[in-house]
Amino acid sequence: MAAPRHFLQLKDFSREELEHVFERTRWIKERFKRYEAYHPLHDRTLVMIFEKQSTRTRLSFEAGMHQLGGTAIFLSTRDSQLGRGEPVEDAAQVISRMCDLVMMRTFEQEIVERFARHSRVPVINGLTNEYHPCQILADIYTFIEHRGPIAGRTVAWIGDSNNVCNTWLQAAEVFGFNVHVSTPPGYEVEPERAGLYGTDHYEEFADPMEAVAGADLVTTDVWTSMGFEAENEARRRDFEAWQVDAEMMRQARPDALFMHCLPAHRGEEVAAEVIDGPHSVVWDEAENRLHAQKALMEFLLLGRVGQ
Ligand code: CP
Ligand code: NVA
Repeated sequence: MAAPRHFLQLKDFSREELEHVFERTRWIKERFKRYEAYHPLHDRTLVMIFEKQSTRTRLSFEAGMHQLGGTAIFLSTRDSQLGRGEPVEDAAQVISRMCDLVMMRTFEQEIVERFARHSRVPVINGLTNEYHPCQILADIYTFIEHRGPIAGRTVAWIGDSNNVCNTWLQAAEVFGFNVHVSTPPGYEVEPERAGLYGTDHYEEFADPMEAVAGADLVTTDVWTSMGFEAENEARRRDFEAWQVDAEMMRQARPDALFMHCLPAHRGEEVAAEVIDGPHSVVWDEAENRLHAQKALMEFLLLGRVGQ
């Protein structure tokens, strides 16, 4: 049996494959908006394993699989044997004999990698401590929808160098754009943890105001990610000057977009005037999780269609 393709990091797909997924995203989205049924995954089953909470990821995968004609099954650590210490390798063997596709949200990247190594079917990373490739798939699609190709553009990342930041940095290498990163001292990018080939596609700025200067897109995320709650108090202090507010947005290009993967904390990493203001495309970004992941599931299960 040939080893299945997985989507565990953004760079697992080539630029050309990701561009194909974007083309399919557009086609699938347009068709969906016209209320035209498209059921290429009839009789296929997706198992979604959640070891952390979720609104968007669960809903977009579950609704997306249903809309493609298939079925989605939700498993969580709390009410599956994973929460009672069943080895991830054993779980992968069993689960992948009963379904066609797996989506997993967990803690260390190593867990989803181990699952994938023992899976007979494709595995999608639905967020780990290190990466969130489905999010950036939708974010780049959203950028293209609003502004055209992202190659050569400048993205400003303000805040924590977390899973979403790491994935933006991988995307910069794949698509050929630049990321201006500004984190508080002690929270800088770790290129190896981010899975980068080098440091050519990003620049670090001590001052967030300098990082956003001339940016085409400004983006941020929570100061404390899931699994790091014990650091919450210290992070609130350390990140205080890293709030994206209207004054910061004025440093970016006049037509700059603002994105946030959500959930957001208004008054912490972003001011209400920005996330609810004219630059913000956060609702399109959230919606595009649905369309982009439908294209991703189609690609993983059926290969290239519609050529
Ligand atoms: N952005 C995102 O992944 O949201 P959820 O945690 O709600 O899935
Ligand atoms: N960085 C956040 C993203 C949530 C979608 C977290 O990992 O909690």
